[in-house]
Amino acid sequence: MKTIIEPFRIKSVEPIRMTTRPERRAMLEAAHFNLFGLHSDDVLIDLLTDSGTSAMSARQWAAIMQGDESYAGSPSFARFEAAVRNLAPFKHIIPTHQGRAAEAILFHLLGGPGRKIPSNTHFDTTRGNIEASGAEAVDLVIAEGRDPAADHPFKGNMDIAALAAFLEANADAVPCVMLTVTNNAGGGQPVSLANIEAVADLAHRYGKPFIIDGCRFAENAWFIKCRELGQAARPVIDIVRSMFARADGMTMSAKKDAFANIGGWLALNDDALAASARVRLIQTEGFPTYGGLAGRDLDAIAQGLSEIVDEDYLAYRIRTNAYIGERLTALGVPIVRPTGGHAVFVDARGWLSHVPPLHYPGQALACALYEIGGVRSCEIGTVMFGRARDGAEHPAAMDLVRLAMPRRVYTQSHADYVVETFEEIAAVKDDLRGLRITWEPPMMRHFTAKFEPLPA
Ligand SMILES: Cc1ncc(COP(=O)(O)O)c(C=O)c1O
Repeated sequence: MKTIIEPFRIKSVEPIRMTTRPERRAMLEAAHFNLFGLHSDDVLIDLLTDSGTSAMSARQWAAIMQGDESYAGSPSFARFEAAVRNLAPFKHIIPTHQGRAAEAILFHLLGGPGRKIPSNTHFDTTRGNIEASGAEAVDLVIAEGRDPAADHPFKGNMDIAALAAFLEANADAVPCVMLTVTNNAGGGQPVSLANIEAVADLAHRYGKPFIIDGCRFAENAWFIKCRELGQAARPVIDIVRSMFARADGMTMSAKKDAFANIGGWLALNDDALAASARVRLIQTEGFPTYGGLAGRDLDAIAQGLSEIVDEDYLAYRIRTNAYIGERLTALGVPIVRPTGGHAVFVDARGWLSHVPPLHYPGQALACALYEIGGVRSCEIGTVMFGRARDGAEHPAAMDLVRLAMPRRVYTQSHADYVVETFEEIAAVKDDLRGLRITWEPPMMRHFTAKFEPLPA
């Protein structure tokens, strides 16, 4: 059959409250044109993030009822640990309340002034935790990974020559080598198995532990199966195991590829490092058999991990984004190519070329998507990255709007509706105006800044 259907039936529904365009305009004004300020029940289709927004399965809800809330030694932890090890066979599995808590523990131990940590591209919380320790986060993704228009099957790959040169020059300063799969900050682009193995070899040649940020490991494995020579016949679960086989540890947000609404973990093979991590865990998260989570959350994650490697699900998931990307391209809307695993990234600067970067074309497009269609997206551009530490404002490298797909939440007709919203915007896009900021906090302004539209 040609049509890739949603490989699930809907047993429990969450109504969407329909709104009119004038109502949405009023809500946008009340939120000072910042989409983080909206109430989520005033949003028709919420593509703000794929993190923690998954629909859990009937089996996950059933697993929640088995949750054992004992402080120590809960069987929920044993099920969680076994489910993680089934995919990523690390010696020590340390639960945390979400991914950034695992990063905070790791870099509390491995970071510090003078240290340098290379990766393809560090996600912003990873970078934040590295920098908070006084260390430097270094991005070494391949050149194609920095070019939105470049077509490459594995745009998340590490630049192996650059990593070799970096390790040669800085070996004493490097406590570990990281790799983010898929590369979220680079558009959800995958990393090939050959590249993962080359990074592992290089890290080990210099005696450095190799740590994978595995938040979207299953989506990455699906891309490997579809795109990498010699991998097509392998089950995704085997590819996942191969991805982790040469690593010495991983950080994970279970809010992504574990279908959970909260949770994460730090996994390590090194006994001494794991012992120190558990000490820190007890200080900051909780006892090592719950790590900041309820027993029921551990059970939801355990069940989610058995579902995420389902190939029918992954085919539907990756195809949904590709479908939206193809239809937007046909409409003449420029996007980051090829579409990644969890989101479609629209090049707002390219599409709204009459709005200069310092008038925030990404924010203008995100506001139009909400006002016209009730679709919430996320600006990833000059609003997010434009304010330098010295206070000066500069255009970001790109002005993108991210349409991040929650897992198992929306259907084909929702995807068609999103595309239709772009169709309506296309008819009026030359009339869209930029915005100016009327108030902003000293840092991370995109979450709380207030805007007003510029006059026509
Ligand atoms: C690649 C990557 N690493 C780490 C994190 C942090 O995870 P969490 O939001 O659970 O703290 C995220 C979250 O979006 C991510 O995408």
